[in-house]
Amino acid sequence: MNTPACPSAVNRRSWLAALAGSAVLPGATAATPRPEITLRFSHVVAEETPKGLAANRFKVLVEQRSGGRISVQVYPNAQLYGDHDEMQALQLGAVDLVAPSLSKFGRIGLPEFELFDLPFLFDDLNAVRHITLGPLGRKLLQGLPRQGLVGLGFFDNGFKQMSANRPLLEPRDFAGLRMRVQASRVIAAQMRALGAKPVTLAFSETRRALAAGVVDGTENPVSNFWTQAMHEVQSDLSLTEHGYLGYAVVTNQRFWQHLQPDDRALIDQALQESLAFANQIADAQNDRALQALREAGTTRVHRLGADQRARLRQAVQPVQQQLASRIAPHWMSDLKQAMRKA
Ligand code: LMR
Repeated sequence: MNTPACPSAVNRRSWLAALAGSAVLPGATAATPRPEITLRFSHVVAEETPKGLAANRFKVLVEQRSGGRISVQVYPNAQLYGDHDEMQALQLGAVDLVAPSLSKFGRIGLPEFELFDLPFLFDDLNAVRHITLGPLGRKLLQGLPRQGLVGLGFFDNGFKQMSANRPLLEPRDFAGLRMRVQASRVIAAQMRALGAKPVTLAFSETRRALAAGVVDGTENPVSNFWTQAMHEVQSDLSLTEHGYLGYAVVTNQRFWQHLQPDDRALIDQALQESLAFANQIADAQNDRALQALREAGTTRVHRLGADQRARLRQAVQPVQQQLASRIAPHWMSDLKQAMRKA
């Protein structure tokens, strides 16, 4: 896939601002003050994704509202840090903001975040936001200071689909497949329940592993599948909508506490608006990626019938009990109570 040549430094800002859906910043003139604060925002996906666009929107808003006094450097595509080291880099203060998927918090001692990985848990994004924007979401973020971190908010990508070099329509279709997963015990259990072998790999390594045949397939929302060019090495994408992928924006606690109150308020307000922006565009981003995938013609796209989804849902039922054995009982009861109110 030929990605457009990276624009020169001058019009790159316009390109990023356009991607983030905002007016172009006032030209970089001698009047722009040297930044007093530079926020380093590292993430692992392409810029043309909900997370990438949210990060760029955040950059534009912070720099505009601070008059350039606060600068935001966004490092997409795991340019700076990837799945293996972004959280540690944040804890060490080597970066100031990351936005990992909720599937990646279990390995820093917060397995309760894997509630979001339970397959077929959510029927739609409204059901997700009832959790992330409600008391249970706040309670989940309260665990982060134990790790020297502060959770600033949740936002969506969307629902995950399954890909491989064969149609994945029935549980038996997964038998023996090596499926790349995120570092989540729930997602690994999901793949095993389907008869597949979970292989945990960093997101940035996935495309290469698929091309080399190290893994046979994977799962992700279409925006990630498309922007990583996985369609070039996967013949089949099954629209299973079997699980949710979302994010939490996290900062280093010391960094956050040492900001001047006005700067902290400006940054937080810009971030909350950027997360709302991401939630507004997430569905459209995934729809746009699916359309582009269909037009590329490289990958057969399969819609599942209600009976087929029911059989997949039945096959992964055991996963919920396995998670319940790993987290404090109140998390499951809190989740069930919150879902009843949705
Ligand atoms: C993955 O690792 O598949 C995703 O979490 C990548 C992302 O951040 O969307």
